[in-house]
Amino acid sequence: MITAAPSPLAPVIDRRIYGQFAEHLGRGIYEGLWVGTDSPIPNRNGLRTDAIDALRAIKVPVVRWPGGCFADEYHWLKGVGHQRGAMVNTHWGGVVDPNEFGTHEYFELLNQLDAEAYINGNVGSGAVAEMQDWIEYMTLDSHTEMAELRKRHGREQPWKVQFFGVGNESWGCGGNMTSLHYANLYRQYQTYVRNYGDNRITKVACGANADDYEWTDVVMARAAEHMDALSLHYYTLPTGEWDVKGAAIGFGDADWYETIRRTLMMDTLLTRHGQLMDRHDPAKRVGLYVDEWGTWYDVEQGTNPGFLYQQNTMRDAVVAALNFNVFHRHADRVRMTNIAQMVNVLQAMLLTDGERMLKTPTYHAFALYTDHHDATSVPVRGVLPAHTDLTLSHRDGAYTASAVNYGLDRQAEIEIVLPGAIGELLRSDILTAEQADAHNTFEAPDAVAITGFDAVRIAGDRMTLTLPPRSIVTVRGRVA
Ligand code: AHR
Repeated sequence: MITAAPSPLAPVIDRRIYGQFAEHLGRGIYEGLWVGTDSPIPNRNGLRTDAIDALRAIKVPVVRWPGGCFADEYHWLKGVGHQRGAMVNTHWGGVVDPNEFGTHEYFELLNQLDAEAYINGNVGSGAVAEMQDWIEYMTLDSHTEMAELRKRHGREQPWKVQFFGVGNESWGCGGNMTSLHYANLYRQYQTYVRNYGDNRITKVACGANADDYEWTDVVMARAAEHMDALSLHYYTLPTGEWDVKGAAIGFGDADWYETIRRTLMMDTLLTRHGQLMDRHDPAKRVGLYVDEWGTWYDVEQGTNPGFLYQQNTMRDAVVAALNFNVFHRHADRVRMTNIAQMVNVLQAMLLTDGERMLKTPTYHAFALYTDHHDATSVPVRGVLPAHTDLTLSHRDGAYTASAVNYGLDRQAEIEIVLPGAIGELLRSDILTAEQADAHNTFEAPDAVAITGFDAVRIAGDRMTLTLPPRSIVTVRGRVA
C-alpha cells in the first residue's frame, strides 16, 4: 500500500518540466514545423497547422531553439530580413540551411503555441557583441540601430525573451572547452545579456554531460552568482554506446529492460549534480535544467544519418513517463527540461512525411501528464510493486496520480491512500500496447493511442489501480 504524505515543503512541479527542444536538424524545423506560406500543406503564417494544433493540445510551455550544436554556429543576422544568408549545417548532415526560419519565425511559432522563449546563444564561434546585439534586437524598445533594424523587418514591439542559454555543450560541439575556460567565458558573455525595459531574462549556463560532476562543480564554484540556471544533458542509449546505439523497433526484452535501467539513471544524475549545486547554492536559487534528454537510437534505415530520424514506440512513452516521475521528485531544483526533440528528430512528439503527420507514443505520454503542470507534488510513502513507478500531485482541488508498469509480462496493482476522500472522478486514461515496440505509422497513425482506463476502484480515500504490462495510467479525482 502506498500512502500520500502531503508536505508544506513539497515543491510545485513547474510546467516547464514539459518543455520542448527544436533544433535546425534534419526535418525538425523545415517540414516538421515550417513549410512556408506558399506550401500546399495547410499552414498559418508558414507554420503547419496540424503540428501546431497537436502541440497546443499538450500545452507546450517553452521551446528551446536554435540548437543544440547548431546554436554555436548560428549567426542570427543571417536569419532576419528579406535577404536571408544560407549556411552549411556542419553538424547535421552538411546540408544547406536557407535560414528561412529565423528569429521572427521562431517568435511566430511561440505565439501560435502560446509558449515561452528559450534561446541558445553562440559562444563557440560567436562574438560577445553578436550576442549582445541579438538581445537588443529582440527585446529593446528604443531607437537604437538594432531596435530600428527589427522594426524595418516588420516587428515594431520588442518580444519577451524569458530564458537565454549562454553556449551549448561547450565541453564538446560548442567549443571543446575545459570547465574553467567555459566558466570564465560564461562570466564574460552573460554580462552582456541585458534586461531591457521590463524584460527579465533567466540566464542559463552550459552544464554537464551526463555524469561529468567536475564540470558542475567548477562552473558553479566560479560562476554561480552570475547564473539563474545550469543545464544538464543526458540521453538514453539502449546499449550505452555511441557507435551502435540500438534499434528503435524490433528490439528484445533485454533491450527494453536495459533501456529502462539507463533511463532511471537520471535519478542518480539529478541527485548527485543537485548535491554539488547545494554545496555552492544551498538556497537552491539556481535551477537545474535538463535541456536535452530522451532516447537516441540508430537512425531509421535509408534516412540521412545526420538527420537523427527514429521511430517511436511504447518503450519511448514509458521512458518519457519515468523521466517525468523522476523530474517531479527533483522539482525543488529541476524547473525546466526540454525533450530532444519536438518533431522528426530523436524522441519526437510528431513525425511527418510530407503532408502527413502522426502523433507518437511519446506525444501521448505528454498528453497523459498535462494535469501535473504547475501542480504541487505530493510525496508518497511505501513500497511499490516490482517494475512500477508512481507520481502524485494536487491542483485545483483534485489529485492526479500517474503510474507506470514497465514490466513486460505481469499486471500490477497499486493501492494508494489519499489525504482525503475522492468525490468525483475527473479523468481515467491509459496508454498501453500488446507489443513492446508498438508504434504509429502513417498508414495506422492511431495504433498506439490513449483510451479510457476502467481498472480503477475508488472507495473513500483509497484508489486502486490495476495496471496491465507496458502501460501508463493517469487518474484524476476531485476531493469530496
Ligand atoms: O539533440 C541533438 C544533439 O545532441 C544536440 O545538437 C547537441 O546539443 C547534443 O549533443
